[in-house]
Amino acid sequence: MCGIVGYTGKAEALSPVLEGLRRLEYRGYDSAGIALVVKAGEPLWIEKRAGKLGNLEEILGDTVPASHSGIGHTRWATHGGPTDTNAHPHLDNEGKLALIHNGIIENYVELRAELEKRGHIFKSETDTESVVHLLSDARKSHNGDLAAAMRDVCGQLRGSFTLLAIHADEPGRIVGARRNSPLVVGVGDGEMFLASDVAAFIAHTKRALELGQDEVVDITGDSVVVTDLSGKVLPLKEYEISWDASAAERGGYPHFMLKEICEQPKAIADTLIGRLSGLDPAITEGIDLAGISKVVIIACGTAYHAGLVGKYAIEKWANIPVDVELASEYRYREPSVDANTLIIPISQSGETMDTLMAMRYARSHGARVFSVCNTNGSTIPRESDAVLYTHAGPEIAVASTKAFTAQLIAMYLLGLHLGRVRGTISAELAKEIEVHLAELPSKVEQVLETVEPLRALTRKFKDASSMLFLGRHVGFPTALEGALKLKELAYMHAEGFAGGELKHGPIALIDQGTPVVAIMPAEGSLLAEKMASNIQEVKARGAIIIAIADAPLASADHLVRIPTTHEFLQPVLSVVPLQVIAYEMAIARGNDVDQPRNLAKSVTVE
Ligand code: F6R
Repeated sequence: MCGIVGYTGKAEALSPVLEGLRRLEYRGYDSAGIALVVKAGEPLWIEKRAGKLGNLEEILGDTVPASHSGIGHTRWATHGGPTDTNAHPHLDNEGKLALIHNGIIENYVELRAELEKRGHIFKSETDTESVVHLLSDARKSHNGDLAAAMRDVCGQLRGSFTLLAIHADEPGRIVGARRNSPLVVGVGDGEMFLASDVAAFIAHTKRALELGQDEVVDITGDSVVVTDLSGKVLPLKEYEISWDASAAERGGYPHFMLKEICEQPKAIADTLIGRLSGLDPAITEGIDLAGISKVVIIACGTAYHAGLVGKYAIEKWANIPVDVELASEYRYREPSVDANTLIIPISQSGETMDTLMAMRYARSHGARVFSVCNTNGSTIPRESDAVLYTHAGPEIAVASTKAFTAQLIAMYLLGLHLGRVRGTISAELAKEIEVHLAELPSKVEQVLETVEPLRALTRKFKDASSMLFLGRHVGFPTALEGALKLKELAYMHAEGFAGGELKHGPIALIDQGTPVVAIMPAEGSLLAEKMASNIQEVKARGAIIIAIADAPLASADHLVRIPTTHEFLQPVLSVVPLQVIAYEMAIARGNDVDQPRNLAKSVTVE
């Protein structure tokens, strides 16, 4: 939520800042802005525009002055609408200090009132602007030391923030800080980067530095100093970025989402690599599983749906109770949690505020935390006892696809592992599931090869007012995920239901011609029969059935065949057509596929 980038070094700053913003635009696209330090004694150069980055790029022209340090911001609006004035960077009254921010400053109302009393003039409705005025005063009282001023200001702020600041009189210097919001340093050759996400600078360097909670970073082209809020210098924690620059490019696909749908066989294979050879203690290294009596999965959105599938697998294979909680609800109901609870946060970004806060709540009550995450060095895995990384690579489209299937794989691996550790799964069944897991990449490939007709079919329903998704067992969370994808991409009413629940109310939604996507349980299973009855119930009331099934189905108006697999693993295959339906529907309805309205990836505010 909000993309932040800073560059200082030998190159002209505009180009890496713009490039970083392009790569971070998935984090918010309500406005974009850039500030550059030109030369000591000269004013800052600043431009900002409401709307997508393209609006800003259009007005840049040839008038941008030479500069070797600058900051850029792409916004997902929280306080104040998406206008030019509310766009970042924000300036102090002298126009010499520029600041960008990701997060929410909770005490901004008090700060603003106090600053206005002191004569500061506010131009925007943002919470951020209070910080730039505060920083301006603090810099003066710290004799022009921007890093000391930043430490002082961070101590006065409540809420979550990543902040980057530059000053007109200090070319080459950028000072940043973070609390509950992401910031990474990229270490180049004679150049340094600061960004919300490594994607911003991955084309320039693979060397990155982690920044912890309440740390302040002070960079020039060839130096980096990290301190805590007391000013104590901290050791640098460097790591190598494993992602390839090309992974963050569209690579010939019309949209990142389509590319990411098609990358799923690789994401699954990479997540499985080295993890299918029987009991591997490395999977949960760092965490003691003895005495665990309950598992609680916490996550949001798509990751929550992966957790729901995980519940079926973990309960069955490891014979342990599993609750799956929406992270945003969990912490505020003060649930019972103790040292025998295993908390599993699932997060693609590793920065989702609701998930992070829920996890911190559980941790502070003694729970052990084992996270599932796709982003190395992000906050959630850093604060966990152990982590199982999914290897989906960078996911740029706002709607999650390959990260979801990789999260499903992580759930299965964990279910198997816990089953083995607890002695609740037979060696034969564990082996059988491993064989099925290993076959998934090629089976997803098969699904991708056969979904083309689904694209034309989807377009037929483009004017439908609603689309319903039905599933049973692990097909139920899959139905929820199908509906979520359609809502976020097609801006169409969509809901997922458990097949057996329909007649308890939702069946009233069915009308003549209502499209219903039915995710069929594995052929021959008892649930397949039950689901067939549910299909008849809606068909009798006028629904048009699009079935996703591993066998022929006479009652289906349209059938999408998927390969057979172990019944618990089916969501990995059945979700792919659902992703394609949402993708195609977005195009048919003229929507922005990669940046759907009102959304942003990596939700770093509560
Ligand atoms: C939907 C989607 C979101 C995320 C959710 C959690 O397509 O992407 O629902 O799944 O915001 O994000 P992470 O996994 O980064 O914690």
